Amino acid sequence: MDERATWATRIGFILAAAGSAVGLGNIWRFPFLTGESGGAAFLVVYLLLVVGVGVPVLLVEFVIGRRSNRNPIGAFERLGHPGWKAAGAVGAIAAFIIFSYYSVVGGWVIQYVVASFTGGYGADAEAFFLSTASGTNAIAYHGLFMTTVAGIVALGIRNGLEKAATVMVPTVVVLLVGLAGYGATLDGAGAAYSYYLAPDLSTIVGDAVSILPAAAGQAFYTLSLGMGIMITYASYIGEDRNLLQDAGVIVVLDTAIALLAGLVVFPFLFTQGIEPGEGGAGSIFISLAGAFQQLPGGEILGGVFFLMLLVAALTSAFSIFEVVVSYVTDTFDVDRVPTAIGMAAVLFVVGIPTAIDLSYLDAYDLFANNILLILSGLLLSIFIGWVYAGEAIEELGKGRTSDGRIEAVWLTTLRYVVPVVLAITLALSVRDYIGFLQESFL
Ligand code: PHE
Repeated sequence: MDERATWATRIGFILAAAGSAVGLGNIWRFPFLTGESGGAAFLVVYLLLVVGVGVPVLLVEFVIGRRSNRNPIGAFERLGHPGWKAAGAVGAIAAFIIFSYYSVVGGWVIQYVVASFTGGYGADAEAFFLSTASGTNAIAYHGLFMTTVAGIVALGIRNGLEKAATVMVPTVVVLLVGLAGYGATLDGAGAAYSYYLAPDLSTIVGDAVSILPAAAGQAFYTLSLGMGIMITYASYIGEDRNLLQDAGVIVVLDTAIALLAGLVVFPFLFTQGIEPGEGGAGSIFISLAGAFQQLPGGEILGGVFFLMLLVAALTSAFSIFEVVVSYVTDTFDVDRVPTAIGMAAVLFVVGIPTAIDLSYLDAYDLFANNILLILSGLLLSIFIGWVYAGEAIEELGKGRTSDGRIEAVWLTTLRYVVPVVLAITLALSVRDYIGFLQESFL
């Protein structure tokens, strides 16, 4: 895409941004974190953070992108504040780490597509997941996912995939609604809903400190925030666009798909007698493989489901890979295709430990999401709230009629709410992370 270009259609931008947002984060990561962090209490904190932190920061990225017409590295220079490039660099490092293991999980999805169509989940869904997740197969399919992403970027056939994304979002929604409807008829549904949807105020308050890092990390991850992806996408939109409306569509869609995924996973887990926290990173895979095995036509249904999940994962993977590649090409003045191939090779190697041992996957995932993305969000909110407020307000007002009230709320949130919440989160995340490393690796 040429730097000066703008999206041909309104829907083009929304689809690309939604394609980035909707991915493994919604369907794989959200239900498993909810299960590990206590169900409904986590859900409430997560939703509060999406609205109170996610939306304002998404608008920050949109404003920076459209105002500067640049990618995240060039943007701060263009806006006259080159020192803040550091925020872009933190995001690029996060993107690098996230992509290395996103590809591993993408490889699991490919394995499940194959197993669905060949009826190969085996008798024990948990055992099958473990054999998929780590080891030689996991490494090989990680390589396949990585090659696919790099190949598509290098060959420039992204357009085809973006068309597939148009089909992906509605198909994912229909499949999830259907599966959630089926889940509602299962024995474990009642217990699952009360676990997932009935928050208990005392638990929320009591566990807030442990929930906050995971919920905030997930809010950033699922909306593809903190990596400059939305800055890059918004650098191609015209001034006639209403940023607020576009942000609303993306957040509602992304959140709805995550909520639906929870409505699918928990009834299936409870019915199979698996504790919600026990499935861990395997929750979605274990619960669905178990279910597809019993359903009439489950092989086809499973195949279609995992295929759609793969498309969702690919459209998100592009957006991350793009940031990594453009960071390298812009910084070192090298060509795109060799960079894409070289980066894919490096990322493949960096991701290998996470395909050997799930503790490494956690180690990468927690560091990138709960620490780096939060740090990047903190810097972005301070930049707009305290350094670049006037221009940012003006930018947000473009493309809509405004009496300035929403801008005022946005600015107040960015000045006083977001930095405080994220600074507390960051401190907790660092503390938790040290504890996690000691427990898992020492
Ligand atoms: N938001 C994507 C998802 O939910 C994941 C993603 C993370 C995409 C980071 C880009 C960057 O799967």
